[in-house]
Amino acid sequence: MADLAVRLASLELRNPLLSASGTFGHGLEMQYLSPPERLGGLVSKTVSLLPRPGNKNPRIFETEAGFLNSIGLENRGIESYLASTLPEVATADCVIFTNIGGEREADFVELARILDERDEVDALELNLSCPNVQGGKLPFGTDPKTAESVLREVRKVTKKPLFAKLSPNVTRISDMARAVEAGGADGVTAVNTLLGMAVDWRKRAWRLATKQGGYSGVGIKPVALRCAWECAQAVDIPVIGCGGIRSAEDVLEYLAVGCTAVQVGTASFSDPALLGRLAGEVSELLDAAGIDSVCELIDCMERPLPASV
Ligand code: SIN
Repeated sequence: MADLAVRLASLELRNPLLSASGTFGHGLEMQYLSPPERLGGLVSKTVSLLPRPGNKNPRIFETEAGFLNSIGLENRGIESYLASTLPEVATADCVIFTNIGGEREADFVELARILDERDEVDALELNLSCPNVQGGKLPFGTDPKTAESVLREVRKVTKKPLFAKLSPNVTRISDMARAVEAGGADGVTAVNTLLGMAVDWRKRAWRLATKQGGYSGVGIKPVALRCAWECAQAVDIPVIGCGGIRSAEDVLEYLAVGCTAVQVGTASFSDPALLGRLAGEVSELLDAAGIDSVCELIDCMERPLPASV
């Protein structure tokens, strides 16, 4: 059996398979379908300082190839996360990432400071890229200087590995990746959702109450794969690929363009057992290709093919 273990910054993952924030419940809701011991890690839904009710309905719309969401970072806030969610999630036998979000730099700093004291949290993922707050204006996700500054300030209050989740809604994502690396990020997650829209022309109605929202799922895979590759080319820190992954083939494509790990998101809504199956399916593909370790595939696109191929 191929070895699936990867090293992601200072984290040892049993395999490169992570849940994507906001697609796998708050904690262990999916554990009977995708047991944590078959995953590399779990990423929480974005936690904010105060509870957030989220945006008005409708805030989900299924499209021909994926879906649009405009949840608006609904969550119960950090106090509830610490009191109820984290103690349960901490029992999971895999690496635990807490995804944090806010509207001001100070929100990220305060959340990181609070979570730094919690040993149950192995790493933080900073959601710099939610398109559904502040009318899609993405305060941190599109300006390299602001993103670098958030990382720099957060870095001062925690030694935990920091991953910056980036937006694809920028001209050059490589500039964003370089900026967060300069700010002290240990890794980059590429990418969050693409800004999108859907309408019902008969009713002259928007499909989302906020008109625009984040588009995710199979339709975004080529864009997300390109973004992940651009990030991997631009920085020395590891990249976690995310966008449209729904098979072991997809996982290995992301690794081939330079990702060290991947996150499975939208596909978990229609198939919550997928993430739990993927490690076995990735192993089978590697075994069939005569590859001993998944690490051999990371960033392999420009390397000569092995004699066996
Ligand atoms: C949301 O809660 O609006 C989605 C989360 C995200 O896109 O970061």
